[in-house]
Amino acid sequence: AGGGDQHIEDFDFSFEGPFGSYDVNQLQRGLQIYTEVCAACHGLKFVPIRTLGDENGPTLPEDQVIEYAKQFEVYDDDLEDFREALPTDHFPESNLENAPDLSLMAKKRAGFHGPYGLGINQFFKGIGGPEYIASLLTGYTGEEKEQAGVTFYENTAFPGGWIAMAPPLGDDSVEFVDGHDADLHHLSADVSAFLMWTAEPKMMARKQAGFAGVVFLTLLSVLLYLTNKRLWAPVK
Ligand code: HEM
Repeated sequence: AGGGDQHIEDFDFSFEGPFGSYDVNQLQRGLQIYTEVCAACHGLKFVPIRTLGDENGPTLPEDQVIEYAKQFEVYDDDLEDFREALPTDHFPESNLENAPDLSLMAKKRAGFHGPYGLGINQFFKGIGGPEYIASLLTGYTGEEKEQAGVTFYENTAFPGGWIAMAPPLGDDSVEFVDGHDADLHHLSADVSAFLMWTAEPKMMARKQAGFAGVVFLTLLSVLLYLTNKRLWAPVK
């Protein structure tokens, strides 16, 4: 989806390219932003909390994952009551009915389309899901309008130009313990990187397997070529 008038900024993410990988510190900052700001409305219902401890993810130590889980309440079918979440539970669903679940959003949206609907940009730059999310968060113009009792905010990345989500982030919305930059641009990139990880937690394993596959197939092609030459040598 998306009109041609969308403005998507091409952010440089560490996980781009065939050898790119997630930046653990960035994922941890993104998790903090998600937890302090986005989780008020949105959910991550497909993401098991325990995966915060996985390699190539935010890589939280086990005791921190257990502590982190405790802030959420989940309904337990066996207890027939609510209880504190455990690492084995998933993140809660969206709190706000019209706020979409963000687990897979970075794979669901495309930032790059053209030229002329051919999608060639996606071949070179990637689909652009995290670029779309980061551009959405930085894309508010400050204009608002009221329609049928709902407030819409003008946004240069959102298809159609008007979104029902108020600008969730501003400069210094979140403070990091290590004093890392927290201007709107950095916060937007960090939370988008985190949402890329929730949508594709096994990206690093996929890239490694892909690379091994290409090396193997290249070698196989060489061997098959030489075999072919040898087999047909007496005939030619
Ligand atoms: C929609 C991200 C915080 C309410 C969205 C969308 C994304 C997003 C990616 C989907 C846009 C699309 O459909 O293409 C975020 C992030 C947040 C955040 C990363 C934190 C930094 C919030 C908060 C609220 C909220 C705090 C509630 C106060 C909504 C609503 C929509 C929405 C209502 C649907 C808008 C529409 O379809 O017009 N958000 N959001 N979001 N969000 Fe957020």
